[in-house]
Amino acid sequence: MARYTLKVRRYKPEQGEGPYWDEFKVDLEGSLSVLDGLLQARDREDGSLAVRCSCRAAICGSCGVKINGESTLACKTQLGDAHEAANRRPANGGRSGSAPIVVEPMGNMPVLKDLVTDMESTHWEKFRRVTPWLIPEGPPPEREYIVPPESMIDVTQSMACIQCGACVSSCLSLEVDPEFVGPAALAKAYRFVGDPRDSQAHERLHDLAEDPHGIYDCTHCFSCIDACPKGVAPMDQIMRLRRLATQEQEIEDRNNGSRHEEAFVDIIRKKGTLDESLLLQESYAAGVKGKLMPKPSAIKGLLESIPTALRGIRAGKMRSLPKLIPGVHHKLPGDAQKHVRRIYEHAEEHRTELNLYIQGEGGEEEGVPGAQGVPAGEVGPAPDEEGDR
Ligand code: FES
Repeated sequence: MARYTLKVRRYKPEQGEGPYWDEFKVDLEGSLSVLDGLLQARDREDGSLAVRCSCRAAICGSCGVKINGESTLACKTQLGDAHEAANRRPANGGRSGSAPIVVEPMGNMPVLKDLVTDMESTHWEKFRRVTPWLIPEGPPPEREYIVPPESMIDVTQSMACIQCGACVSSCLSLEVDPEFVGPAALAKAYRFVGDPRDSQAHERLHDLAEDPHGIYDCTHCFSCIDACPKGVAPMDQIMRLRRLATQEQEIEDRNNGSRHEEAFVDIIRKKGTLDESLLLQESYAAGVKGKLMPKPSAIKGLLESIPTALRGIRAGKMRSLPKLIPGVHHKLPGDAQKHVRRIYEHAEEHRTELNLYIQGEGGEEEGVPGAQGVPAGEVGPAPDEEGDR
């Protein structure tokens, strides 16, 4: 048994006061969870402490909070680990060894009380936005839709989502654009786009590509991947949606998202690092032809992007004069550029989907379930076990 201090962010709207911090001492084994600590604090010290939980086994997704600044499940985080992490935090400097475990409500969501957030407006509303149900074609079969198990493997990762909201809480794009559809809803969108029984893949992709707050609003920050307690990797699902939208369905979105992505990849292929001065022009008016005969939409897009470009310059993204001159971009030293090209070639040759439920942590090629001769049923948790919602 050890003694831990939980520093909890409190908020009691009924008292008409702003948020404040409260500390609780709990006596528990380090192998027990932060949720166990919170429940002990509520039982022994303050019955008004609001915490949401149900299964206490990382299944129902209701106990999402921030622990030491990281969005996660309180029932899946051990007190001992949280204590160690708290003492590693630079924010706790000077309290080494005795730093409290800091528990806060999830981010990007309004707080209702203490650790309980309103997920309706920030999570469930967006979730419904992606039409999270199957839309099959034709009359329903007499008994059930039957699909080969291997055709479902690709969506198993997104099916593992338990809707805890940890990815939504940690999403940096949502902080900037609260209208962003968000990682959880987009991961769910992939679950249906990738389902062979669904007949609306093109419509779904078109809708999410055309939405200015859709798939191209993700900035690749990886926060949702770090936060997800179930390995769903929402950002990977968003990238899959993009790939399907551009490469399979050839959707050229009005937000210029697909061309922007293409320009980004091409510039780095050619130069090794990102020449920011070329990015906008290549996104809207690619190549010599694009610049000599720009389409009216390209001119409009470039003009509309001037405020963004100015903000980038002001924020120090292009610090030196050469960085502002198109094409005058520093070269990589030595053979570095060749290495970059080799990375591209390797990626093209070994293009594999990064689905942990298919490849496993080590990414072993052999024995990949779903590959020839390997039964799909031998991989990962069955969708039902992980709560497909
Ligand atoms: Fe159900 Fe934590 S209580 S996931």
